[in-house]
Amino acid sequence: MRIITDIAEMQAAARELRRNGTLALVPTMGALHAGHLSLIAAAKRDCTHVIASIFVNPLQFGPNEDFDRYPRTFKADCAALTAAGAEILFAPSAETLTPAGASTFIEVAGISDRLDGAHRPGHFRGVATIVAKLFNIVAPDRAYFGQKDAAQLAVLRAMVRDLNFSVEIVACPIVREADGLALSSRNRYLTAEQRSRATILHRALDAAAGLHARGERNAQVLIATMLRMLASEPTVVVEYAAVVDPETLMPLADTASGALIAVAAQLGDTRLIDNHLIGAVHA
Ligand code: PAJ
Repeated sequence: MRIITDIAEMQAAARELRRNGTLALVPTMGALHAGHLSLIAAAKRDCTHVIASIFVNPLQFGPNEDFDRYPRTFKADCAALTAAGAEILFAPSAETLTPAGASTFIEVAGISDRLDGAHRPGHFRGVATIVAKLFNIVAPDRAYFGQKDAAQLAVLRAMVRDLNFSVEIVACPIVREADGLALSSRNRYLTAEQRSRATILHRALDAAAGLHARGERNAQVLIATMLRMLASEPTVVVEYAAVVDPETLMPLADTASGALIAVAAQLGDTRLIDNHLIGAVHA
């Protein structure tokens, strides 16, 4: 696998690859796990060439968030990407991709203030700006993202639509541990005790999805069920439990046309999110 850190070199390499076949981009912040690697596998199935990126994006972390302690496991990540069959890794430095003095940002108004955005001011502005830059540098035919970050997907889909990026956004299913916990680079922050309590996010979503499957359509009933279950783990501090439209992230009164049900919670210093799509909606 070729590792590229320079923007002009990345642009030239992508241009060359695009001459024979289709180009996939899989953006990540590293600390790779099987969830990330499932995106590489999906990209390889669909496209001729797969480019992964690793960039711990300072623009998307709030001042009191975990930018400094975010896990950085570059050597292991390179080995995993090589084994998974990525052709190029784009891994620019912060000075290269986010130089001081840059003054242009992408703001996907409205959606960026919902779900995670409501609790992480500026987060999706940082995500959208960096992903737009990656799209401009690589110009992929398709870009692969996880359903795990459902709000991120909604923001990026709106950005691609509104700014006419010629890239297809592909959403991939959430990869989970055997006990249901969604894989996350942040899971490694959890103590053994927090790790066992963390399955409550998934179990609360399962309970709500089960109610929907048995005919319950009232969003408030599903939300109350999730909150009750989350409250059963006293050290889990709920940030939100929501039933929303997966495209706009606006709250839904009922789940008759399908819904995104999503939860976020804090376990100690670690923030975890999870979600399910229920009913007739597609990722
Ligand atoms: P990161 O958290 O590293 O995630 C990179 C990609 O992996 C995202 O599309 C995310 O949704 C996906 N992913 C994470 N956990 C997953 C799981 N358990 N199953 C399936 N996919 C999973 O998301 C980001 O980085 C950044 O915001 C980024 C898009 C790179 C912009 O900086």
